[in-house]
Amino acid sequence: MISGHYLGLFLKMLSSLNKPRRILEIGTYTGYSTICLSNGLAKNGEIHSIDINDEISDFTKKFISKSKNKEKIYLHTGDAKKIIPNLKDKFDLIFIDADKKNYCLYYDICIKKLNKNGFILIDNVLWSGKVINESKDSDLETTEIKKLNKKILNDSRVENILIPIRDGLMICKLT
Ligand SMILES: C[S@@+](CC[C@H](N)C(=O)[O-])C[C@H]1O[C@@H](n2cnc3c(N)ncnc32)[C@H](O)[C@@H]1O
Repeated sequence: MISGHYLGLFLKMLSSLNKPRRILEIGTYTGYSTICLSNGLAKNGEIHSIDINDEISDFTKKFISKSKNKEKIYLHTGDAKKIIPNLKDKFDLIFIDADKKNYCLYYDICIKKLNKNGFILIDNVLWSGKVINESKDSDLETTEIKKLNKKILNDSRVENILIPIRDGLMICKLT
Protein backbone atom coordinates (compact mmCIF):
# COMPACT_ATOMS: atom_id res chain seq x y z
CA MET A 1 0.00 0.00 0.00
CA ILE A 2 2.84 2.42 0.84
CA SER A 3 4.59 4.15 -2.07
CA GLY A 4 8.01 2.79 -1.08
CA HIS A 5 11.36 4.47 -0.61
CA TYR A 6 12.25 5.11 -4.25
CA LEU A 7 8.87 6.59 -5.22
CA GLY A 8 8.89 8.47 -1.92
CA LEU A 9 12.18 10.12 -2.87
CA PHE A 10 10.79 10.92 -6.32
CA LEU A 11 7.66 12.53 -4.82
CA LYS A 12 9.85 14.58 -2.51
CA MET A 13 12.02 15.66 -5.46
CA LEU A 14 9.02 16.70 -7.59
CA SER A 15 7.55 18.61 -4.69
CA SER A 16 10.88 20.32 -3.92
CA LEU A 17 11.33 21.42 -7.54
CA ASN A 18 7.90 23.03 -7.56
CA LYS A 19 7.81 24.38 -3.98
CA PRO A 20 3.99 24.16 -3.83
CA ARG A 21 2.09 26.37 -1.46
CA ARG A 22 -0.82 23.89 -1.25
CA ILE A 23 -0.81 20.12 -1.83
CA LEU A 24 -3.80 17.77 -1.85
CA GLU A 25 -3.43 14.01 -1.46
CA ILE A 26 -6.10 11.34 -1.85
CA GLY A 27 -5.08 8.24 0.10
CA THR A 28 -3.05 8.94 3.25
CA TYR A 29 -2.73 5.42 4.65
CA THR A 30 0.26 5.62 7.06
CA GLY A 31 1.18 9.14 5.94
CA TYR A 32 4.39 8.04 4.21
CA SER A 33 3.76 9.81 0.89
CA THR A 34 2.21 12.74 2.81
CA ILE A 35 5.48 13.26 4.68
CA CYS A 36 7.57 12.82 1.50
CA LEU A 37 5.50 15.43 -0.37
CA SER A 38 5.48 17.80 2.63
CA ASN A 39 9.27 18.02 2.43
CA GLY A 40 9.02 20.13 -0.74
CA LEU A 41 6.38 22.57 0.48
CA ALA A 42 6.96 26.32 0.41
CA LYS A 43 7.79 27.89 3.76
CA ASN A 44 4.18 28.84 4.40
CA GLY A 45 2.84 25.76 2.60
CA GLU A 46 0.34 23.13 3.67
CA ILE A 47 -0.67 19.66 2.63
CA HIS A 48 -4.19 18.28 2.98
CA SER A 49 -4.47 14.50 2.90
CA ILE A 50 -7.71 12.52 2.80
CA ASP A 51 -8.36 8.92 3.80
CA ILE A 52 -11.68 7.16 4.16
CA ASN A 53 -10.43 4.63 6.70
CA ASP A 54 -10.97 5.99 10.22
CA GLU A 55 -9.51 2.83 11.75
CA ILE A 56 -5.99 3.85 10.72
CA SER A 57 -6.14 7.52 11.69
CA ASP A 58 -4.52 7.05 15.14
CA PHE A 59 -1.78 5.00 13.55
CA THR A 60 -1.26 7.67 10.86
CA LYS A 61 -1.27 10.56 13.35
CA LYS A 62 1.52 8.83 15.30
CA PHE A 63 3.81 8.97 12.25
CA ILE A 64 2.77 12.49 11.26
CA SER A 65 3.45 13.77 14.79
CA LYS A 66 7.10 12.69 14.37
CA SER A 67 7.51 14.60 11.11
CA LYS A 68 9.32 17.93 11.08
CA ASN A 69 6.48 19.26 8.94
CA LYS A 70 3.67 18.20 11.26
CA GLU A 71 2.35 21.77 11.52
CA LYS A 72 1.87 21.86 7.76
CA ILE A 73 -0.04 18.57 7.51
CA TYR A 74 -3.85 18.51 7.70
CA LEU A 75 -5.53 15.12 7.77
CA HIS A 76 -9.14 14.67 6.65
CA THR A 77 -11.06 11.49 7.36
CA GLY A 78 -13.84 10.62 4.95
CA ASP A 79 -14.67 9.96 1.34
CA ALA A 80 -12.50 12.10 -0.95
CA LYS A 81 -15.37 12.31 -3.45
CA LYS A 82 -17.46 14.17 -0.87
CA ILE A 83 -14.67 16.15 0.81
CA ILE A 84 -12.86 17.61 -2.23
CA PRO A 85 -15.80 19.51 -3.80
CA ASN A 86 -16.22 21.30 -0.45
CA LEU A 87 -12.58 22.40 -0.15
CA LYS A 88 -12.49 26.14 -0.68
CA ASP A 89 -9.02 26.82 -2.03
CA LYS A 90 -7.19 25.37 -5.01
CA PHE A 91 -3.95 23.38 -5.04
CA ASP A 92 -0.54 23.50 -6.78
CA LEU A 93 0.11 19.77 -6.56
CA ILE A 94 -2.40 16.93 -6.23
CA PHE A 95 -1.43 13.29 -5.61
CA ILE A 96 -4.06 10.63 -6.35
CA ASP A 97 -3.35 7.28 -4.67
CA ALA A 98 -6.64 5.77 -3.48
CA ASP A 99 -9.18 3.20 -4.74
CA LYS A 100 -8.50 2.60 -8.42
CA LYS A 101 -12.14 2.07 -9.43
CA ASN A 102 -12.77 5.79 -8.92
CA TYR A 103 -9.67 7.07 -10.68
CA CYS A 104 -11.53 8.86 -13.53
CA LEU A 105 -13.83 10.56 -11.06
CA TYR A 106 -10.90 11.67 -8.88
CA TYR A 107 -9.17 13.10 -11.97
CA ASP A 108 -12.31 15.06 -12.92
CA ILE A 109 -12.80 16.44 -9.41
CA CYS A 110 -9.12 17.24 -8.95
CA ILE A 111 -8.51 19.04 -12.22
CA LYS A 112 -11.12 21.61 -11.16
CA LYS A 113 -9.14 22.17 -7.96
CA LEU A 114 -5.83 22.82 -9.66
CA ASN A 115 -4.16 26.24 -9.70
CA LYS A 116 -2.65 27.61 -12.91
CA ASN A 117 0.74 25.86 -13.41
CA GLY A 118 -0.41 23.15 -11.03
CA PHE A 119 0.10 19.47 -11.63
CA ILE A 120 -1.48 16.14 -10.75
CA LEU A 121 0.44 12.96 -9.90
CA ILE A 122 -1.38 9.64 -10.18
CA ASP A 123 0.08 6.42 -8.80
CA ASN A 124 -0.34 2.86 -10.10
CA VAL A 125 -1.15 3.77 -13.69
CA LEU A 126 0.68 0.64 -14.92
CA TRP A 127 -1.15 -1.59 -12.41
CA SER A 128 1.52 -4.31 -12.41
CA GLY A 129 1.53 -4.27 -16.22
CA LYS A 130 -2.14 -5.28 -16.45
CA VAL A 131 -2.98 -2.09 -18.39
CA ILE A 132 -1.29 -3.46 -21.51
CA ASN A 133 -3.49 -6.55 -21.49
CA GLU A 134 -5.84 -6.26 -24.50
CA SER A 135 -8.34 -8.74 -23.05
CA LYS A 136 -11.88 -7.33 -22.74
CA ASP A 137 -12.62 -9.19 -19.50
CA SER A 138 -10.10 -7.37 -17.32
CA ASP A 139 -11.01 -6.53 -13.73
CA LEU A 140 -12.71 -3.31 -12.63
CA GLU A 141 -9.52 -1.59 -11.50
CA THR A 142 -7.56 -2.40 -14.66
CA THR A 143 -10.45 -1.22 -16.86
CA GLU A 144 -10.69 2.05 -14.93
CA ILE A 145 -6.95 2.76 -15.02
CA LYS A 146 -6.85 2.07 -18.78
CA LYS A 147 -9.80 4.45 -19.19
CA LEU A 148 -8.03 7.15 -17.20
CA ASN A 149 -4.75 6.78 -19.12
CA LYS A 150 -6.66 7.26 -22.40
CA LYS A 151 -8.69 10.13 -20.98
CA ILE A 152 -5.51 11.97 -19.93
CA LEU A 153 -3.86 11.37 -23.30
CA ASN A 154 -6.85 12.94 -25.05
CA ASP A 155 -7.29 15.80 -22.59
CA SER A 156 -6.12 19.01 -24.27
CA ARG A 157 -6.08 20.81 -20.90
CA VAL A 158 -2.99 18.88 -19.81
CA GLU A 159 0.45 17.75 -20.91
CA ASN A 160 1.34 14.36 -19.51
CA ILE A 161 4.17 11.91 -19.06
CA LEU A 162 4.03 8.40 -17.63
CA ILE A 163 7.10 7.64 -15.54
CA PRO A 164 7.63 3.87 -15.44
CA ILE A 165 8.92 3.71 -11.88
CA ARG A 166 7.49 1.20 -9.45
CA ASP A 167 3.82 0.72 -10.49
CA GLY A 168 3.80 3.71 -12.89
CA LEU A 169 3.43 7.37 -11.99
CA MET A 170 1.47 9.70 -14.29
CA ILE A 171 2.35 13.40 -14.24
CA CYS A 172 -0.23 15.80 -15.71
CA LYS A 173 0.47 19.50 -15.95
CA LEU A 174 -2.09 22.10 -16.97
CA THR A 175 -1.14 23.59 -20.35
C1 LIG B 1 -2.41 2.92 -1.57
S1 LIG B 1 -3.05 3.53 -0.06
C2 LIG B 1 -2.27 5.12 0.05
C3 LIG B 1 -0.80 5.02 0.27
C4 LIG B 1 -0.12 6.34 0.54
N1 LIG B 1 -0.45 7.34 -0.47
C5 LIG B 1 1.37 6.13 0.54
O1 LIG B 1 1.97 6.03 -0.53
O2 LIG B 1 1.97 6.05 1.62
C6 LIG B 1 -4.70 3.94 -0.51
C7 LIG B 1 -5.52 4.58 0.58
O3 LIG B 1 -6.68 5.14 -0.05
C8 LIG B 1 -7.73 5.13 0.89
N2 LIG B 1 -9.03 5.30 0.21
C9 LIG B 1 -9.76 4.38 -0.48
N3 LIG B 1 -10.90 4.92 -0.93
C10 LIG B 1 -10.91 6.21 -0.53
C11 LIG B 1 -11.84 7.29 -0.67
N4 LIG B 1 -13.00 7.13 -1.34
N5 LIG B 1 -11.54 8.48 -0.12
C12 LIG B 1 -10.36 8.65 0.56
N6 LIG B 1 -9.45 7.67 0.73
C13 LIG B 1 -9.72 6.47 0.20
C14 LIG B 1 -7.56 3.78 1.59
O4 LIG B 1 -8.20 3.76 2.84
C15 LIG B 1 -6.04 3.63 1.65
O5 LIG B 1 -5.53 3.99 2.92
